[in-house]
Amino acid sequence: MPGPSPRPLEHPAPIHMTNQIGKHFIELPTVDSTNRYAAELMARGEAGHGTAILAHEQTAGKGQRGRVWRSTAGQDIALSVVLVPKDLPAQDQFILAQIAALAVHDVVADALRITVDGGASRVRIKWPNDVLIDRRKVAGILIENEIVSGSVAGTIIGVGINVNTHELDADLNATSLRIETGTAHDRMAIVTDLLARLQHYWDRWQAGDPQVRMRYVELLWARGRFTEFELNGEPFTGRPMDVDAGGRLLVEDDRGRVKAYDLDQLRFAPR
Ligand code: BTN
Repeated sequence: MPGPSPRPLEHPAPIHMTNQIGKHFIELPTVDSTNRYAAELMARGEAGHGTAILAHEQTAGKGQRGRVWRSTAGQDIALSVVLVPKDLPAQDQFILAQIAALAVHDVVADALRITVDGGASRVRIKWPNDVLIDRRKVAGILIENEIVSGSVAGTIIGVGINVNTHELDADLNATSLRIETGTAHDRMAIVTDLLARLQHYWDRWQAGDPQVRMRYVELLWARGRFTEFELNGEPFTGRPMDVDAGGRLLVEDDRGRVKAYDLDQLRFAPR
């Protein structure tokens, strides 16, 4: 059987990478979607835990809720990482979103810390897993899980980071590292950092460290602040307080009542 198209570039994995995540590193000049490519590899049994796929151009990037994810060829990051948890019940799958969001948060914060005074504190995670600088989105994450007999048999963590692009639609409320820092960033260094951060949070989770969940909550955008939502399509004001194990957002309304909401009920109002 021929391999999936397109063919990868012949590149060794970054030499200092000894951990599992990113050890099998595939670099593609162009692909429709790294998540789709990863799924194809998984189905063929050619991608195990830690396989990472980076594309320099993505022609049909997939976003959340069936949307298209656009990135600029040679300027941004489109990366998918395959993870294979052992014994993760489907109802606890949100931990994977937390691991991914924290890893992306950290690399974005690092890029800002180096170049902008106090920049790191402007980076927040917008539930469930967009990464913002102030109010603008710099990175998105699409997680696609394969559930078998009530457990997560495998997952594809797709990460798009706006790095050096300045071609962003004005109505997207998006930004890039370059726009925020005024300087170009080394994409391969960010990818290496991101793989190491994923490994770090994965290891913490495996070790049963409650800090993973706590740090995610600590970094939530608008936490403790009244903000506008849409609840079942209707305007709703509340303040995000916490997230439960199922990934539902706990929001306090203006009468002090706290309720848990799923993504299909509640979303932040568009700005
Ligand atoms: C979002 O809508 O915020 C999620 C965007 C996720 C985009 C990334 S880019 C790499 C990976 N491959 C895809 O097709 N999508 C994800």
